[in-house]
Amino acid sequence: MKSLMITKYGDINSSLEEQDIPKPLVEANQILIRTYSSSFNPIDHMIVKGDYKAMGKVSFPAGIGRDVSGIVEEVGKNVRKFKIGDKVYSRINESFVGTMAEYVLSNVKDTALIPSNLSFDESASIPLVGLTTYQALVDIAKLSKGENVLIHAGSGGIGTFAIQLAKHLGANVTTTTSTKNISFVKELGAGKVIDYTSQNYLDEGSVFDVVYDTLGGNHTMDSFKVLKDEGRVVSIKGTVDSITAKQLGLNKLIQMIIAFQARKVFKAASKMNASYRFLYMSPNGEQLKKIAKLYESGAIKPIIDKTYKFSESIQALEYLSKGHAKGKVVVKIRE
Ligand SMILES: NC(=O)c1ccc[n+]([C@@H]2O[C@H](COP(=O)([O-])OP(=O)(O)OC[C@H]3O[C@@H](n4cnc5c(N)ncnc54)[C@H](OP(=O)(O)O)[C@@H]3O)[C@@H](O)[C@H]2O)c1
Repeated sequence: MKSLMITKYGDINSSLEEQDIPKPLVEANQILIRTYSSSFNPIDHMIVKGDYKAMGKVSFPAGIGRDVSGIVEEVGKNVRKFKIGDKVYSRINESFVGTMAEYVLSNVKDTALIPSNLSFDESASIPLVGLTTYQALVDIAKLSKGENVLIHAGSGGIGTFAIQLAKHLGANVTTTTSTKNISFVKELGAGKVIDYTSQNYLDEGSVFDVVYDTLGGNHTMDSFKVLKDEGRVVSIKGTVDSITAKQLGLNKLIQMIIAFQARKVFKAASKMNASYRFLYMSPNGEQLKKIAKLYESGAIKPIIDKTYKFSESIQALEYLSKGHAKGKVVVKIRE
């Protein structure tokens, strides 16, 4: 089968190529998906560039892509939940990475039926950003009605889902974006928009119950400057905490280094009786089922910036890596 493969660490154009590789074999609790669409996420270009080396080296050639939508082609001998022909989507487990391919394995527990009102392209835009944000805002922050939430980078893949989910939960949404995207994020449900090219969100004062830090760097510590006492910061880009370090199975030395680096953040949090969590998202089919219902009810709509053909997937990743996508970047694997 055809699969886009990473051949070495380096720049996107010279480190990826389409190869013919064997179709994966299905084990008892897995399904084989005939891929229709996939989408890229920043982790994909970061891995190519070698940014994740500390988490474990990649052995090349390696597959790329974590989001998939398609049709069940084969089921393992224990599978009862899905049957051949079902339309499904998944953020696949790390061990199967390579959704830019004609066939993809997924664990049953990581898979759900696609939202009944969406196409394969639309469905493939959801799993990774949807699960990350559901786990950040619902599971960790427990964002509730009437609370004020600051969502950074509201116009990106994560942000466009986050604004809509927070609005659905009844929160008052403030988001950051650049001038060209102000009306776009307002239409998605942001009550207040801060143009990061001309305004500073720190001028808001300590008004937020929850900050969703999608930018990291200085923004992580700055979250506490706009947080109310006893507020919650959930970061998906900033300082990694020891819970996540353990969850990722990092070695003891790296766990100690991470705990040391995180001291400053936890000190700032404890000063205000606030909480800080770093989230590294997990695949979860049950949550994808709940997310599908949000699309079916119209509470959330898919936001796709561009859709590329399989033969253009390197250009798709190049485009995403510029950091200015307006929603998701999708790759159509087959018609
Ligand atoms: N820990 C996890 O499990 C996890 C999971 C998913 C994602 N992430 C991380 O979360 C981050 C966001 O992911 P994504 O998929 O949303 O990325 P993305 O789609 O590439 O984000 C692009 C968006 O970021 C906006 N942006 C860039 N700089 C900004 C700034 N200084 N202030 C406000 N907005 C800014 C851009 O808006 P303009 O064009 O207006 O500049 C653009 O719309 C990435 O770093 C990713 O690695 C982590």
